[in-house]
Amino acid sequence: MGKNSETLFSRAQEIIPGGVNSPVRAFKGVGGTPLFIDQALGSRIFDADGLQYIDCVGSWGPMILGHGHRYVVEAVKKAATRGFSFGAPTVGEIELAEMIAQAIPSIEMVRLVNSGTEATMSALRLARAATGRKKIIKFDGGYHGHVDALLVKAGSGGATFNVPDSAGVPKEVTELTISVPYNNLKAVREAMDGEVAAVIVEPVAGNMGCVPPAEGFLQGLRDICTEAGALLILDEVMTGFRVAYGGAQSLYNVKPDITTLGKIIGGGMPIGAYGGSRELMQLVSPLGPMYQAGTLSGNPIAVAAGKATLGVLKNSSIYADLEERSGEFQTGVTKSAEKHGVPLTVNRVGSMWTIFFTEGPVTDYESANKSNRERFSRFFHLMLGEGVYLPPSQLEAAFFSAAHAKKDILQLIERADRVLKKINWEFEK
Ligand SMILES: Cc1ncc(COP(=O)(O)O)c(C=O)c1O
Repeated sequence: MGKNSETLFSRAQEIIPGGVNSPVRAFKGVGGTPLFIDQALGSRIFDADGLQYIDCVGSWGPMILGHGHRYVVEAVKKAATRGFSFGAPTVGEIELAEMIAQAIPSIEMVRLVNSGTEATMSALRLARAATGRKKIIKFDGGYHGHVDALLVKAGSGGATFNVPDSAGVPKEVTELTISVPYNNLKAVREAMDGEVAAVIVEPVAGNMGCVPPAEGFLQGLRDICTEAGALLILDEVMTGFRVAYGGAQSLYNVKPDITTLGKIIGGGMPIGAYGGSRELMQLVSPLGPMYQAGTLSGNPIAVAAGKATLGVLKNSSIYADLEERSGEFQTGVTKSAEKHGVPLTVNRVGSMWTIFFTEGPVTDYESANKSNRERFSRFFHLMLGEGVYLPPSQLEAAFFSAAHAKKDILQLIERADRVLKKINWEFEK
């Protein structure tokens, strides 16, 4: 690890809890010192010691075009010169909302917020307002931001650090949340009753590592919800504009009542959104009785970055290219692991993927947790040494961007091959 990152981390730990502003960044899941980032361009990220890495984190999803895409940079510069925030409506907000609704037909109206957490928190409130019911069903290892009611058997940092239920959340709040295994319709049916307001699900799970929905799972959820009079919330904060322009709902052909978005719709700037039918969204203040607001909501710079990003993604061959390159990576790493006798499963949907150190299959939180974390940590650090920046946790998804060229993918396969060979040898000793 570079000296500058070490020094900065010591300094940061004195003043910021754990030295970071979001827990997984601290490298606690893999040990060692986090890289302090100086800048990034295209598929590359540069740390405070001037070292260069192929970036497979992409700011945890938003950077689908790669870092510093010139259209996005131009749009942000232009917006910044016109003013940072007005707390009043702008034309950009209408345009971004229209782009979202055009891409995702289940969204007739949409409200912009500042993060994915705000989006899911508001979606729950909306579901409760619409149904007059209290209970929520979620999935083990599913993460929907740090909303009190959703920090139950949560994925991401909670799972990484083995604290899936957060302190500081009253039990009266979490008593209303039921968590069941992912990809298990029987468990959902058993948990469902007339008091459930909504089922909230990541249509492709990304916060227990990448776990695709089993065939028929999402449609099954749709049917169960419809029958029970509960709403289906697809949390597409990660998958929206990632697995397809129309999100996972277009890929798997399922229509939710409420969709939550974030990450890509802000192109790397802070944003979130929730939307659904006109009828449902009319419950939101000032049209209706469900209150939700935000000083910086619809921030003009975030909106400009989001519009530019969606503009590039629309009508481009980016998704086909991402599929091809990500598939090549998956095949390359799988073959390499077989060659070196390392038990490993690569889960992937489009450009969202995770290498699990288990024979698999990985279909839910329990099977994701069978991964050998010691091997993952070793893999992570050896890859870092090879100039590859992976998510510093076994239970997170990694991402490719449009800036990951074919030669980046070939380099990644080559580097992973060297590392897997070494790992096997080390673990056999
Ligand atoms: C599926 C999902 N929902 C919600 C969130 C929360 O978003 P944010 O971190 O912007 O609050 C995340 C964050 O990773 C996420 O992956």
